[in-house]
Amino acid sequence: MGRDEYGYARLRIYELNTIEQAARRLAQLRSAGVDASADAVTAPREINGELVAPRSGAEREFNAPILKGSDEAARPDQAFASPQVEINLDRLSAMGYISPLAPSSRRAEEFRMVKRPLLNNARGNSAAPVVNANRIMVTSALPREGKTFVSINLALSIALERDTTVLLIDADATLPAVLERLALLPARGLLDLLSEPDLDVQSVLLRTNVERLSILPAGTLQDNATELLASKRMSTLLEKLEARFPNRVLVFDAPPLLGSTESRVLASHMGQIVLVIEADRTPQRPVNDALAAVESCPVVMTLLNKASSSEAGSYYGSRDN
Ligand SMILES: Nc1ncnc2c1ncn2[C@@H]1O[C@H](COP(=O)(O)OP(=O)(O)O)[C@@H](O)[C@H]1O
Ligand SMILES: [Mg+2]
Repeated sequence: MGRDEYGYARLRIYELNTIEQAARRLAQLRSAGVDASADAVTAPREINGELVAPRSGAEREFNAPILKGSDEAARPDQAFASPQVEINLDRLSAMGYISPLAPSSRRAEEFRMVKRPLLNNARGNSAAPVVNANRIMVTSALPREGKTFVSINLALSIALERDTTVLLIDADATLPAVLERLALLPARGLLDLLSEPDLDVQSVLLRTNVERLSILPAGTLQDNATELLASKRMSTLLEKLEARFPNRVLVFDAPPLLGSTESRVLASHMGQIVLVIEADRTPQRPVNDALAAVESCPVVMTLLNKASSSEAGSYYGSRDN
């Protein structure tokens, strides 16, 4: 495992010629007789990062989560009274995101490397237990380094795991992007839950056509977003979410760490942080400052994004306190 000059292990995500890749993948799927618009449940699944054949309906019914949880949490998503949204998987794939219909793509392989150590911690399989390891925040020093790109791909990758459900939370209160990136209509979400404590969590969670993936949008933008994220209500909301769905991994698409305090405040609630660094663009100073800002988080993984594919090899890991 490679370590950088700060002693942090790194993972690289390559910039792809995404349109070309996606077109090739769709052609492959079609020639293999796969209906690319089919529901995700017919696609191969993963167990601990290994691809497995599609499961039968009966198997799906009794697929118990392996993270610790109550009976309520073991119910499939379909039991929740949350609105359902339809993500256009072909479009997503053409944009270079993981498609549940092409789980052996290079992108899916890259994110298998990213999620493996994170899930090991979340499942309590690490050498030392990590507090709140199911809460994973994706952040970066500066805007546009790829936080939303990484958050969505990480959530899709975790949803491919047979026994783990994932809630993707858009916590970038000033520049929310998850719904727009997925071509979904604006909806209420996190900020509404924080400003209206009586609002029912389930009424704003969005179930998706990707099995085991739900979304909590950022919601209605508010002037006091930083205060809301810092408030006791945020801790209470996270506890409420976890009490209701204790087997879920929460992936937070967070704001950048430098220039505002929101992300630092969020970091204090997290067990694991993925720090996205844009290759060949982000100078060392902001990276150092960002790392210092999340120093107290138990696990910080750095992820070198948009690395050029001419760079050899890929390696990954994390710093455990
Ligand atoms: N590894 C990558 N390969 C190709 N495009 C990428 C990659 N990472 C990010 N992008 C694109 O770069 C732009 C900025 O990324 P985004 O996720 O919006 O950044 P942030 O959320 O940090 O502001 C988006 O258009 C995104 O799709
Ligand atoms: Mg973003």
